[in-house]
Amino acid sequence: MDGNYELKYEAMRAQIAADISSGLKPHEPLPSERKLMATYGVSRMTVRRALALLVDDGLVYSRRGSGTYVADPAMISKSLSLTSFSEDVRERGMTPGARSQQVRRLPAEADVAADLALSPGAPVVHLERVRTADGLPLCIEEVWLPADLVPANFAEGAVTSLYDTLSDLGIEPEMASQTIRATVVNVEQATQLDVAPHSAAFSVSRTTYAANARPIERAHSLYRADRYDFTFSIHRGA
Ligand code: GLP
Repeated sequence: MDGNYELKYEAMRAQIAADISSGLKPHEPLPSERKLMATYGVSRMTVRRALALLVDDGLVYSRRGSGTYVADPAMISKSLSLTSFSEDVRERGMTPGARSQQVRRLPAEADVAADLALSPGAPVVHLERVRTADGLPLCIEEVWLPADLVPANFAEGAVTSLYDTLSDLGIEPEMASQTIRATVVNVEQATQLDVAPHSAAFSVSRTTYAANARPIERAHSLYRADRYDFTFSIHRGA
């Protein structure tokens, strides 16, 4: 392998990042791999590595079989690690927020109880919020927590970051199982998210566990598909 490999892809990454900040428009295509190889005098592997890093940086996105495009900074790219909404939004240089918060104590329905390893009817805290990025609605989020996990006055004030609040209680999310589905919003959800009825959305269900494998939340989030996407590295199995 070329000894300067790392230097070359880092230089290329920095140059393309500079080009983007000095005027490339969101969704504008980058030159083809072949053109980039010629322009930078580097191998295909170097080009691919630089582009993969720019994808991780959230500066570009790629479409299979089509090419690489400048990312839209209004989009929130969710990397598939166990991050909170607030962390995802901050990572993109925006300010996370929450509004229309509603908190209720309820008996767990069978499916929520099963996910939280509780008996059906056991008390849970249900927290519902519209999550915002720079004040604009991005997602409707519902979370169910085992009631014995949190104090009785939990969420009396506004909860800005649930994970920070849990962390203050000594509860750290360790891993989660998550399912992402495509859907459309109904009329009520459209109003909350400020989009047209039947707009595309991602429905994300997550059950989160603490290090001792105890389930600590069951969450459902409905994200506007025009402002949110998922990016992840995938590794070919050994
Ligand atoms: C994401 C997850 C939720 C989690 C939330 C916490 O949206 N899908 O399961 O409750 O992050 O985010 P925050 O700490 O900003 O409230």
